[in-house]
Amino acid sequence: AKQGLQVAIDGPASAGKSTVAKIVAQRFHYIYCDTGAMYRAITWKALQAGADLDDEATIKQLLDQITIRFEPGTPTQKVFVDDTEVTLAIRQPDVTNSVSQVSALPAIRTELTARQRQIADAGGIVMDGRDIGSTVLPHAEVKIFMVASVEERAQRRLKDNAAKGITTPLATLKHEIEERDRKDSTRKVSPLTQAADAIRLDTTSLSIEQVADRIAEIIKEKEMRQK
Ligand code: CDP
Ligand code: CDP
Repeated sequence: AKQGLQVAIDGPASAGKSTVAKIVAQRFHYIYCDTGAMYRAITWKALQAGADLDDEATIKQLLDQITIRFEPGTPTQKVFVDDTEVTLAIRQPDVTNSVSQVSALPAIRTELTARQRQIADAGGIVMDGRDIGSTVLPHAEVKIFMVASVEERAQRRLKDNAAKGITTPLATLKHEIEERDRKDSTRKVSPLTQAADAIRLDTTSLSIEQVADRIAEIIKEKEMRQK
């Protein structure tokens, strides 16, 4: 029998998905899967290899050759490509500003979607990304679509970057976020969109705790009804 629900959290950059997904997963003893980190990992690999980022066949070959693994860690879980830790490398601006190009390649999406479904198969999972509720886990029992104003999201990213020693100015961040949202929302294969049965949650003026509590309530209600 399935142990626990599938919880899908989608939304644009810096809406708070991964921060809240981690907290919620801990509370319910669910697994947390950051699908954005998987797209970032193959983008990192492609940049390392000096691949042309439009060259779908070459990047697919690179993806077939690597394992992308998560390991527990504080404050964030660690990400590995084979035996190389890439936790910090995949958050650098070069990867951030190239990832939407790589994630638009259909062969890359097909492969990563298959890997994500395998991870989620047993249930008891919180998975965040752009197309989890719409494409990866269309039967997820809980679907959240998290949004926040672009102003607020740029401010959040500024803070996150400061902690990492990245000094991109606010106006540039705002522009980069808008550009990535536009690319992610307009690509042909599984673009960022709200699934029809997803609950929309605007986090602009909510604290992390408030967002986590709201999602926890929704999960509890579903769990009750499943029993
Ligand atoms: O954390 P942040 O909002 O910056 O982005 P992310 O969740 O790490 O995702 C990075 C990029 O991966 C996104 O901008 C998308 O281009 C891509 N992505 C995707 O296409 N599908 C997903 N399920 C998750 C991420
Ligand atoms: O995963 P996603 O790109 O959607 O967002 P994130 O990486 O979780 O980054 C969101 C940032 O905003 C983090 O620094 C959080 O501490 C902060 N934040 C939040 O996530 N939720 C709020 N309600 C308020 C702030």
